[in-house]
Amino acid sequence: MTKTRILFLCGLFVFSCNSLNDKTKETFVEKELVHVEKQMDVLLRKANTAHRIPRTVTSKNNIEWTNQDFDWTEGFFPGTCWYLYEETKDEKWKAAAEKMQSQFEVHKYLTTNHDLGFVFNCSYGNGYRITKDETFKQVMITAGNSLLTRFNPVIGCIQSWDVNSGWQAERGWNFPVIIDNMMNLELLFKLSEITGDHKYKKVAISHANTTLKNHFRQDNSSYHVVDYDSETGMVRSKQTAQGFADESSWARGQAWGLYGYTVCYRYTKDEKYLDQAQKIASYILNYKETPKDGIPFWDYNAPDKPNTYRDVSAAAVTVSALIELNQYSHVDYSHNIDKLLKSLASDKYMAKVGTNNGFLLKHSVGSLPHQSEIDVPLNYADYYFIEALIKYEGSHSN
Ligand code: GLY
Repeated sequence: MTKTRILFLCGLFVFSCNSLNDKTKETFVEKELVHVEKQMDVLLRKANTAHRIPRTVTSKNNIEWTNQDFDWTEGFFPGTCWYLYEETKDEKWKAAAEKMQSQFEVHKYLTTNHDLGFVFNCSYGNGYRITKDETFKQVMITAGNSLLTRFNPVIGCIQSWDVNSGWQAERGWNFPVIIDNMMNLELLFKLSEITGDHKYKKVAISHANTTLKNHFRQDNSSYHVVDYDSETGMVRSKQTAQGFADESSWARGQAWGLYGYTVCYRYTKDEKYLDQAQKIASYILNYKETPKDGIPFWDYNAPDKPNTYRDVSAAAVTVSALIELNQYSHVDYSHNIDKLLKSLASDKYMAKVGTNNGFLLKHSVGSLPHQSEIDVPLNYADYYFIEALIKYEGSHSN
């Protein structure tokens, strides 16, 4: 912690929302990170005993581990361990990250889903950023190449879900693209940067532009799923999968869009991405029916508000994105950032050490329409909250 603080003071990674003199913020982050480390240590002990990667908690109050065949969330707990290694320099976290990510390294060859960006950027990507280990870079390249196989140049997008099995096969889709897919672009942008090969970035830009054209409504909220015709590139339908209705705004989807376009701006400096990120932020932050603490309901248009679930994961992704957006934008999001971080750190959402099966945050929603993971802890809510704290502290170097 001391070293990052020195880097911070040297002004190497200064985030505009984190004023150098602001002792209150510094104390807040320090206190939260102490809490985070204690609680993640509880989770790590359980993970080490089980030799598995934690995902969430079941209705019987047991830890649910990631699916070893493939799980879109498998990169998050190793990623959390990388962040804690970066913060503490305790080798325990590095060893844990390496051990856990090696469990799914073989998934770098999968070409059957779009989540390789999530999985390999949060795990191996953070590992490479921190250690510069060349073997991690090679894993990222293989995963990136697998992801590129899902790009259709006629449409200009990466296909999100396959449609030949599971519940996706029942929807009549041809080439579904979900807003979440914006989160897989960071791996591609990074790969162009570290390999010098522009093919990754070209696909990322094409995907971002096509999504910008087709996924957003007049009010800057986004559809969850846009289905394309893979032969003609035409839009077949605009629907939802995890939201309340086709025309509703699924909360985490809005957060993925915000984060995704902020990252696009980071790598391209193209103003249209900054503009889009600001518009999404405006939708999220000005939504009148969101409670005062800023933690959104699971869908902005859920019919039974306020007697329905919040989605803490959406808030965690949002605040992490906003901290970065605040560096680029003429709009000052500091007040919103402070509010969201404080809310997430409050007793209402933050578990006491030793409770919540070792997860940090309570009250997230995975997929309400699928009756899956409702009002539970989720490994990605914890990951993005920790990422946000580190960005807020000013020691995160992207
Ligand atoms: N597909 C990622 C999510 O459920 O948000």
